[in-house]
Amino acid sequence: MKQSLDVETLNTMVVEAKKYTKEGVVADYIPALGEANPETLSIAIYRGKGDCIAAGNIREKFTLQSISKVITLAVALMDHGEEYVFSKVGMEPTGDPFNSIAKLESNVPSKPLNPMINAGALAVTNMIIGETIDEKLGRILSLVHEMTCNPEITYCERVAKSELDTAFLNRSLCYFMKQHGVVKGVVEELLNLYTKQCAIQVDCYDLAKLGYVIANDGKNPNTERQIIPLHIARILKTFMVTCGMYNSSGEFAIKVGIPAKSGVSGAIMGSVPHGIGVGIYGPALDDRGNSVAGMKLLESLSSRYDLSIF
Ligand code: DON
Repeated sequence: MKQSLDVETLNTMVVEAKKYTKEGVVADYIPALGEANPETLSIAIYRGKGDCIAAGNIREKFTLQSISKVITLAVALMDHGEEYVFSKVGMEPTGDPFNSIAKLESNVPSKPLNPMINAGALAVTNMIIGETIDEKLGRILSLVHEMTCNPEITYCERVAKSELDTAFLNRSLCYFMKQHGVVKGVVEELLNLYTKQCAIQVDCYDLAKLGYVIANDGKNPNTERQIIPLHIARILKTFMVTCGMYNSSGEFAIKVGIPAKSGVSGAIMGSVPHGIGVGIYGPALDDRGNSVAGMKLLESLSSRYDLSIF
């Protein structure tokens, strides 16, 4: 690192980046997300063993949305192994929006391009083992609890229901994939689980800790216990680099160079290999569904502290 990363510097960087919140809008296609304050920007940086610094309104809670795709992929890979998971979902980035159906129709066989877009994530959620929706969700939440050392984390029923009531595009993706044998079972049950997984509610501290475990090759920062096997942590980081910021992933890799995953709540989780977990919340989004000010904040953090992996 070029200079020491302290709270004062972090505060200054948040104030600077906050200006960019004006360039974005809060997502409202999930009605409950539309209630967020577009001017908010907060960040937590976790460096292991209780070392955490933060700036902004860091106790504010928000939902993981697409960041949950990384966690669910980890569970599916631990449940089934790479061969099975990647027989149903690909490994390639896409230049299309996160909720696009286009490639499902044009690609033969119909297989979602990667697990970070909605189609791929729905196919992955469909693989989670469990007798009931509660049991499946419980297994996803257990991993979140272990990674954050916070057993209180649960999902927000209001946000989950708001998405379930309006998820017509995701329903279409599911039915299309069911027709082609990519997903099995009852579509409404899959959507029920998916919307709950997306509505898992955290704060910036929790998010930074999730990012840290992935950065730390899957190990718990306190006990060094392997929570996620090393080879799976590597797969997660790689998808975060190639597909984590959707159709902005290439530009983000050049400008920031930190494995990261965004969600339409305005959250971004960053994993700087072997060192730092980052949790950001800034609900004003650009037209690709990424937090505008959050990305600016990561850009200045990366250049100031030389954090790019490239
Ligand atoms: O499926 C959806 O549309 C949302 N639950 C998650 C999308 C999302 O977070 C995309 N990220 N930028």
